Amino acid sequence: MLLGVNIDHIATLRNARGGFEPDPIQAAQICEANGATSITAHLREDRRHIMDNDIKALKKSIKTNLNLEMAVTEEMQKIALEVKPYSVCLVPEKRQEVTTEGGLDVVGQLNKITNFIIPLVEAGILVSLFIDPTEDQIRAAAKTGAQFIEMHTGQYSRAFGTPDEQDEFENLREASRLAHALGLKVNAGHGLNYQNVQRMRQIEDLYELNIGHSIISRAVFTGLAQAVQDMADLVK
Ligand code: PXP
Repeated sequence: MLLGVNIDHIATLRNARGGFEPDPIQAAQICEANGATSITAHLREDRRHIMDNDIKALKKSIKTNLNLEMAVTEEMQKIALEVKPYSVCLVPEKRQEVTTEGGLDVVGQLNKITNFIIPLVEAGILVSLFIDPTEDQIRAAAKTGAQFIEMHTGQYSRAFGTPDEQDEFENLREASRLAHALGLKVNAGHGLNYQNVQRMRQIEDLYELNIGHSIISRAVFTGLAQAVQDMADLVK
């Protein structure tokens, strides 16, 4: 199973000050040097974290695969065709949400999504659909021409450690089986952390996990001691 790291929150921190630190490109390089097999960045309509130039710079500098997360809009399709990332992951996007809340409604937008994907696939970009792990969404995803789905693990993550955990886990496992039977490759992500990620290894043939928040959160504490020591050395 591969690990894609989502670096959006590096850009969130940078944008809080409006300068250049911390640099998402440098973050991507550190991720790659330490086991990430792809770098995910979500270019949101409001550019609240990753910006257009970040995507272009990432495409130029990273050595692994760039996975561009984006909404199903003409603007994003144009950018994807220009930048040509290794893959795109199509997600629903609401302006007010803090993070991607639910999966894409492929059932309700089958024609729109199928047509949206055509030029991307023709340009050689792999397409993944971020969907809830339900039978109807998976069956619809298999009709679109996308090669991958990414199962939304938010519900499993929230249920972890509660009586609902097993049901949510089985649901993911069944969903993955169905997707494979329909010829799709399967990624998963959202809300995965250092505890709940362990069980993902019990799901056969999961291709890649995309993880952001828990890794960046942990990095703050694994790096804080060194950062303070370095400054204290300069100050004393
Ligand atoms: N996959 C998708 C499609 C996402 O939208 C997100 C959140 O940006 C993630 C994975 C990563 O989620 P988290 O930050 O909770 O690890």
